Amino acid sequence: MRIIIFFAFFFLFSACNSILQENEKLTGVQIYKSRCLSCHGADGRMGVNGAKELPASTLSIDQRIEVVKNGRNIMPAFNSLLTESQIVAVVEYTMTLK
Ligand code: HEC
Repeated sequence: MRIIIFFAFFFLFSACNSILQENEKLTGVQIYKSRCLSCHGADGRMGVNGAKELPASTLSIDQRIEVVKNGRNIMPAFNSLLTESQIVAVVEYTMTLK
C-alpha cells in the first residue's frame, strides 16, 4: 500500500514540475511581448531608438541579464519592474531569437 502512495505522489510531483517549466517558458515570451517588443520588435530586429538587434547579439546570457537589470543608454533598467526570475526567463527567451 505504502509503495502505491509513494508512486502516486511521485507522478503527481513530476506532472506539476513539467507544468511549471512550461509556465516559465510562457512567462519569458509574455514578458518579452509586454516589455521589450515596443523597442526590439517581435523578432528582435526592429531597432527602435537604436535598440540592438537581439538575434545578432553576441552577449552571453549573464551579460544580457546585466543589461536588462541595469539598462544601458536608452535601454531602460528593469530591476525594479521585474523579479530576478522574470529577468532570467525573458533573457532566456531572447537567446532563442535567431
Ligand atoms: C525603450 C526601448 C527599449 C526597451 C523597452 C527594451 N530595450 Fe533592450 N535595448 C534598447 C536599446 C536602445 C539598446 C542598446 C543600448 C546601447 O546603447 O548599448 C538595447 C540593448 C539591449 C540588449 C543588449 C544587446 C547587445 O548585444 O548589446 C539586450 C540583451 C536587450 N536590450 C534586451 C531587452 C529586453 C530583454 C527587454 C525587455 C525586458 C528590452 N531590451 C527592452 C532599447 C530597449
